[in-house]
Amino acid sequence: MMVVMDRRHFLKTSTSASLAALMVGRGFAQTTLGPLFESESLAGNAAGQADLRIGLIGCGGRGTGAASQALSTVGGVRLVAMGDAFSDRLESSLVSLQQYHPDTVDVPPERRFCGFDAYQQVIACDVDVLVIATPPGFRPLHFEAGVAAGKHIFMEKPVAVDGPGIRRVLAAAQVAKQKQLKVGVGLQRHHQNSYLETIQRLHAGEIGRITLLRTYWNSAGVWVRPREQGQTEMEYQMRNWYYFNWLCGDHIVEQHIHNLDVGNWIMQGYPTEAQGQGGRLLRTGIDHGEIFDHHMVEYTYADGTRMLSQCRHMPGCWSSVEEHAHGTEGTCDVSGARIRRHDQDKLHWRFEGDSPNAYQVEHDDLFAAIRSGTSYNEAEYGAMSTMTAILGRMATYCGKVVKMEDALASSLALTPSAYAFDGTPPSLPDADGRYPIPIPGVTKSY
Ligand SMILES: NC(=O)c1ccc[n+]([C@@H]2O[C@H](COP(=O)([O-])OP(=O)(O)OC[C@H]3O[C@@H](n4cnc5c(N)ncnc54)[C@H](O)[C@@H]3O)[C@@H](O)[C@H]2O)c1
Repeated sequence: MMVVMDRRHFLKTSTSASLAALMVGRGFAQTTLGPLFESESLAGNAAGQADLRIGLIGCGGRGTGAASQALSTVGGVRLVAMGDAFSDRLESSLVSLQQYHPDTVDVPPERRFCGFDAYQQVIACDVDVLVIATPPGFRPLHFEAGVAAGKHIFMEKPVAVDGPGIRRVLAAAQVAKQKQLKVGVGLQRHHQNSYLETIQRLHAGEIGRITLLRTYWNSAGVWVRPREQGQTEMEYQMRNWYYFNWLCGDHIVEQHIHNLDVGNWIMQGYPTEAQGQGGRLLRTGIDHGEIFDHHMVEYTYADGTRMLSQCRHMPGCWSSVEEHAHGTEGTCDVSGARIRRHDQDKLHWRFEGDSPNAYQVEHDDLFAAIRSGTSYNEAEYGAMSTMTAILGRMATYCGKVVKMEDALASSLALTPSAYAFDGTPPSLPDADGRYPIPIPGVTKSY
């Protein structure tokens, strides 16, 4: 629906009261992909509320899910433009979104864009909110462009793969604040009730002073998209992006960021240095690019507290995606939301509240802030938690102690300066199709 004059101002002033009332029970939308309150949002439109127009950039698994969650927030929301590097990814995402949201997906062929400049075309489509879920190597570029164009943004984690990228995101985050743009980052534990209450209790001192943190993302690994005949090297790497650092940042950045971010949240700060070790033991196939399959990092915070971090991609081993905190007066299973105190035999506390789907709640919260005009900017901690993961990778790749200030100031840019499918990606295979692998003690990683 078109609103003459200032559409954003209109949205801000016309919907905040009714939304505040609706958001009280925000757990409503957690068990379905489909739009809830469909008739309500249509009623809202009929009453004169403007739709928020969404543009999706990166139409893979998470982009499709995030767009669906955005469309399931309260109030009029429409998906009006989509962009992806590849048309097959865009079309399959569109089919699935149309199935779940038949009335609010409005993306005709002229608003479907493919290729490296698709993001610019989506941004040019008079959208209010960008949902960005491309591989993280593109995040600084896309986030900067969205902020420059005055868009509210939901962007997936991680928000970069290197120090220069983090600096760009931090700078754009400041501009977003000045422009009063709302920015959500896909670190959804910040919107999960069990984490919110557990960490509030840690901050209130329920286990005393924190002395040690332990964080894990140990799993069997993720998908591989093998090389196909006729692909250029750039297309192959774009399709199989998980295994190339200029796109992914290694799995310590791409996945383990969630757990490291929880550590930072507990500490209310960021590590000042890290040292660690890692390598490729089992995942050494021809389509496994250049990333490690395990990292073990010891982070140090300003007060001397350590955070031990493990991430591993190996089938058949102990699996764990968890965070734990140890304090002078007790221990906390943070992901399990339980607290034990040294002075009690029985469990001291366990979270028993409701736990709506945090992927939905993060969108509910962002869209409520957009409509009410409340300050909302998760980019800074999103960037610094991404930097924490990058710091860990730098430490395991070079095998030395790396200081956060040096990592953050690093001039080592992994991403290319220009993108084209017939162009040259930053990492190239040798005659056997193998890529250079970092060598601790030799590799300069920052
Ligand atoms: N918060 C979470 O729990 C969570 C879960 C899964 C994924 N993610 C994040 O979401 C992002 C995407 O992951 P995914 O699992 O959806 O991967 P995916 O491969 O399924 O989707 C990525 C999509 O981006 C497209 N793309 C690549 N480069 C592009 C460009 N320059 N412009 C436009 N489109 C481009 C790809 O073609 C693909 O369709 C990653 O950053 C990942 O870490 C977050």
